[in-house]
Amino acid sequence: MKSQKVKIFVQLIVSFTILCTLPTVRALKCSEVEYCSALRNRPPANLYIVDVYSIQIDDMGIIRFNLLARSGIEDLEVNVFAYKDDILRVKIKEFNSTRFELSDVFAGAPNLAGVQSVNTEATQMTITTNIGSRLLVKFSPFNLEFYRNDVLELLLSGDRLFIDNPTNSQSFSVGLVFPESDHLYGLHQHATGLTLRNTEAAEPYRLFNIDHPNYPINDTDSIYGVVPVMYGHGPEFTAGIFLHNAAQQFVDITHNTDGQNMAVFMVEAGTLDLFVYLGPTPAEVLRQYLLITGTPYMPPLWSLGYHQSRYSYYTQEEVKDIVANFDNYNFQIDAIWLDIDHTDAKKYFTWAPQNFSDPIEMQQNLTATNRKLVVISDPHIKVERGYSVYDGALENELFVKNPDGSAFEGDCWPGTSSWIDFLHPEGRAYYASRYLYENYPGTTPTLAGIWNDMNEPEVFGVDENVMPGDTVHYRDVLHKELHNAYGMLQTRATHDGLMERDNRTARPFVLSRSHFAGSQRYTAIWTGDSTSTWEYLDISYAMCLNSNLVGIVFCGADVAGFNSDPDDELYQRWFQAGAWLPFFRVHSHETTKRREPYVFSDDVQQVVRNVIQLRYKHLPVWYTLFHEHIAYKTPVIRPLFFQYTYDTNVFAIYNQLLVGTDIMVRAVSEPGVSSVPVYFPGGSNEYWVSLDGSTVYQGSGNYVDIPVTINTIPIYYRAGSVIPRKDTIKPTSTDMYDDGYTLIVNLDSSNQAHGTVYLDDTTSLFYLNYVEYNYLSLDYSGGELTFTKIDSHANSGQFDLVVDVVVTHQITELPSDGKPGKYVETRYEVDSSGNLLKNMKFNFKNATKLSLKLQ
Ligand code: NOJ
Repeated sequence: MKSQKVKIFVQLIVSFTILCTLPTVRALKCSEVEYCSALRNRPPANLYIVDVYSIQIDDMGIIRFNLLARSGIEDLEVNVFAYKDDILRVKIKEFNSTRFELSDVFAGAPNLAGVQSVNTEATQMTITTNIGSRLLVKFSPFNLEFYRNDVLELLLSGDRLFIDNPTNSQSFSVGLVFPESDHLYGLHQHATGLTLRNTEAAEPYRLFNIDHPNYPINDTDSIYGVVPVMYGHGPEFTAGIFLHNAAQQFVDITHNTDGQNMAVFMVEAGTLDLFVYLGPTPAEVLRQYLLITGTPYMPPLWSLGYHQSRYSYYTQEEVKDIVANFDNYNFQIDAIWLDIDHTDAKKYFTWAPQNFSDPIEMQQNLTATNRKLVVISDPHIKVERGYSVYDGALENELFVKNPDGSAFEGDCWPGTSSWIDFLHPEGRAYYASRYLYENYPGTTPTLAGIWNDMNEPEVFGVDENVMPGDTVHYRDVLHKELHNAYGMLQTRATHDGLMERDNRTARPFVLSRSHFAGSQRYTAIWTGDSTSTWEYLDISYAMCLNSNLVGIVFCGADVAGFNSDPDDELYQRWFQAGAWLPFFRVHSHETTKRREPYVFSDDVQQVVRNVIQLRYKHLPVWYTLFHEHIAYKTPVIRPLFFQYTYDTNVFAIYNQLLVGTDIMVRAVSEPGVSSVPVYFPGGSNEYWVSLDGSTVYQGSGNYVDIPVTINTIPIYYRAGSVIPRKDTIKPTSTDMYDDGYTLIVNLDSSNQAHGTVYLDDTTSLFYLNYVEYNYLSLDYSGGELTFTKIDSHANSGQFDLVVDVVVTHQITELPSDGKPGKYVETRYEVDSSGNLLKNMKFNFKNATKLSLKLQ
C-alpha cells in the first residue's frame, strides 16, 4: 500500500512537471495567419460574372454554369443542387479542381428535389425548385439570392467571393447576408454567449480545432470543436447555412446600419460547398441540417445517469472504494471513468500492470452493482516496437505521414508518438478492430464507453500544439485540408469498433473533445478544460445550447470546472446547473482536491444528493427527448428563442434553457445571491409552475426576481405538460428499469395537459431492427389520462407503461399585478374505482389507446 502511494505521488509530480513545462499555447490571430490577413484586407470587389451561354440543367435537376473571372484569377464552375425539404446547395470551384472534398460528413445521400422551371432573362435567371424555393442568379455582377415563398432569406454576396488559386494557396472567401435576421447564431465552438457579435473592429471568429487550456471566455478564439453552421434568426423568419469544409476558417460578422447581418467566411483550403437551409423556423433549419448530417443511435440509458471521473483514478482498489462510497453515502451513479493513467505508459488498449493488475475482476465488481466503466483512448500511439497497436499501424502504413512519406512523429502523453490516419478507411478499420475483446485484453461489456481526447489532434511542442498542416493523409490529402474533421473521424472509428465488438447489438457510448459536423452520429461532447470559476459555469449553458443548435445534442461540462478547486457554493451551484445538461459528469484535473460528493460536508452532500436524485427522477424525460431528437430532429435542450421565435426579448438569453419544450431551468451562476432574475416566455396564455413551492408564473414577457436558497435554482414545468418521471430512488438507472412512472400532470388554464414517453430495453439496438419500443402520447382531460400509441409500426407489446402515481398541478389562482399565482398539488395513488395505481400496467400489444380514470 505504501509503495502504491509513493508511486501515485511520483506520477503526480511527473504529470505536474509535464504540464508546467508544456509550451503555452497561443492561438493565432487572423493577422498572424497569412491567408487570413490577405483575405481580410481585400476590399470588396465584384470579380465574377455569369457566362450565360454555359447554363445547363442535367437529368437530375442539377444546374451548372460558369463564372468568368477578371484577369489574373481563374474562371469558376458553379453547381446548384435543390434538395427536398427546402435545402439548396451551391458548390463553386475551378474547372478540374483538385481541391479536397469531404465525403464523411453526410448521413446518407441527400434527396434531390428537382427543378420545376428555369426562367432566363437578360440580367438574371430564376430557378424554381419542385418544392417551391427559388434561387435568383444575378449575372453581372454575380450574386445569388435564395428565396422561400418570395421571402429573400439569404444572399451570397458576389463582392466577397474570391477563390485564390496559385499553387501555394487554396484559400477562399465568401460573404453571406441574412436579410431577415435580427441576430446570427452558431459557428460552434466558442466560449461565448449565443448571439454572434460584430467583429468589424475585433478578431473574427476562428473555426480551428485546438486545445486551448483555460480558454478565454467571451472570445472569438477557437477551441476544441468546429461546426460551421449558422442561423440568421429574426422574429418572422430563420435561415441557416452549413459550410461543408473542414479546413481552418475565420468568420467576420457585421451588422450593417440597414439592419442586415453578414458573415464573411475566410477559409484556408478545400472546396466552397455551401448548404442553405431556408427554414423558416429554427426548428426547421435544424431539421434540414440533420437530414443531411444525421442523428445518433439512442444513447444507452446509463449514459444519461451520473458519471464520476477524475484525472486520474490510479488503481483498481480506488475504483472499488469510490463506487462503494457512492453506495454508502447514498449517491446514485451509473459510470466511473479512467483517465490516461490507467494504461501502461500511456499505451492505449493496455492496463497499468501493477495498478490495474486484474481489470476483469474490477469490471466484475462494477457489473455486480450495475455500474459501467468508461476509459480514455487518445489518437496518439506510442512509438515503441513491440507495442502491437503501434507495430500494426506502422507495418500497414496507417499513420499520418510527413511530406517525405515517413510516419509523422511528435510528442504527446506517451512521449514520442504517431497518429492514426483516420481518413484512411483501413486506418479506421484497424483502429476499430483494436476494440474487439480479443484485441483489447482485460475488457468486458462493462467497459461500455470510450473517451476520445486530445484529438484536435494535439501534438506537444509544435505551433499551436496541433498536427502540422503539411502532414499527409490518405490519398495525399494535406492535414490542413481536413484538420477540423480529424476528431470526428476518430470517433467514427471508435463507434464502429464498439459496434463490431458487441456484434452490432449494444449501443456504443463515446465521448470526444474534438468534434465536427456529423460527430453527433458517433459521440457525445463536453466543454473541455474549463476552470472552476463562476464565469465558466455561466458559459457552459451557452456552449451546450450552441452545440444543440448545431446538432450535437449530447453535451455537458465538467462539474464543477476542470482546473482548480471550487468552493462549496460553486460546487453546489455547478451540480444544480449541470444536472440539466444532457451529459452529467464530474471531472477535474489531477492537481485538484478530491471532488466526489461524499468528501464534502453533510450539508453540501444533502444538496448534491437532491440534485442527483432530481436528475434520476427525470431520466424518462431525457430518454424520451433523445428519441424525439432522432425521430423529429429536435434539440434535447434549447435556448428560449428556439421555441419563442417571435419574442425579441429572449434572443440573447443563454443562462436559461428549455429541456425539450416543457421544463425551464435557470442556472444560478452568480455567487452569494438570494434571488435571480428569470424571464418567463410565452405570452399571457403560458404559465410556468415552479418545482419548489406551489407558485405559478405567467409568460408575461418580463423578468421576475425569483428567490433562491442554496438548495434551489429556478426550475419550472410548463402548464399544459405531462412530465413522465420515475421517482423511485435506486442506485443506478438499471435498477430502476422495472419501476413505475410518476406522471406529473401540469394542467393549463383549461385543465388540459399533454406529454410523451418513450420506452425500450435501454441498451440494445433491437429498437432499430425489430422496432422493439413503445412511444406514447400522454393526454389529460376531464379527470382522465389517455395513453395513445404514437408509432403504429412499433412492436410495443413488450414495453408496458407502468404507472405508480399520478400527480396533478392545478392552477388555483392566476398570476396578476406582477404577483405569482398558485397551484394545488393532488397525488393520486388509486384510480377512480379505488384500484391501487402502484405498478399498474398498460399493455399495448393489442391496443393503441388505453386510459386511466382518476376522478
Ligand atoms: C485533457 C482533457 O481535456 C482532460 O479532461 C483530461 O483529463 C486530460 N486531457 C488527461 O487525459
